Amino acid sequence: MIQLFHVWKFYDRRPALCDLSFQIGKGEFVLIRGASGAGKSTLLKLLFRAELPDEGQVLVHERNLARLSLSEVPTLRRGMGVVFQDFRLLPKKTVFENVALPMLVQGKEAFETRMKVAEALNAVGLSVKRDCRPATLSAGEQQRAPTSSTSSRQFMRGAPRWCWRAMTRT
Ligand SMILES: Nc1ncnc2c1ncn2[C@@H]1O[C@H](COP(=O)(O)OP(=O)(O)O)[C@@H](O)[C@H]1O
Ligand SMILES: [Mg+2]
Repeated sequence: MIQLFHVWKFYDRRPALCDLSFQIGKGEFVLIRGASGAGKSTLLKLLFRAELPDEGQVLVHERNLARLSLSEVPTLRRGMGVVFQDFRLLPKKTVFENVALPMLVQGKEAFETRMKVAEALNAVGLSVKRDCRPATLSAGEQQRAPTSSTSSRQFMRGAPRWCWRAMTRT
C-alpha cells in the first residue's frame, strides 16, 4: 500500500510536485504518465526515499518514509524493483553477475542465487546473453537486465514507453 498526503516537492523554489494525494492499494497496477518534466521521476524518488517531500507525507505499508532511519532504507528498497532510465548496469560485470549482485549483497546463498538468476534471465528472454557485458547488449536488452534482477513483483519505472513494450514482450 502506497499513500501520499498533500505532498509538495520543490527544486530551487520551483514546485516539481504540487499538493499530490493518492493511494495505491495492494495488487493494483498503476501507470503514471505525463509530459517530460511533469514530476514522474521525482515521485518515484520519493517512493524509494531518494528524496524527501518538502511538505506532506509519503507512506509505504503505513510507514511514513520521512521517519525511516537510514538503516531502514535498504530494507524498504529491497521490496521494490526500480528500473532506471540509464539502466545502471556495472560495465565490467556480465549480465549474469549484474543480476546476481543484489541477491549476493543481501546474503543469499550462491546456489540459490544461481538458480534465481537463471530463472529471472529466462523470464525476460536474456538467457543467451548471460555471459555478455552490458556494452554489447541492445538498449532494450540492457533495460530488461535490471528488470530481471528485482526480487519483487513491484516495478517502478522511469522509462520511456518503448522500453516498457520491449520488457513485456514475451
Ligand atoms: N535534482 C533536481 N534539481 C533541480 N530540479 C530538478 C531536479 N530533479 C528534477 N527537477 C525538476 O523538477 C521537475 C520534474 O522533474 P522530473 O521529476 O524529472 O520529471 P519527469 O520524470 O516527469 O520528466 C522538472 O522541472 C525538473 O527540471
Ligand atoms: Mg523522468
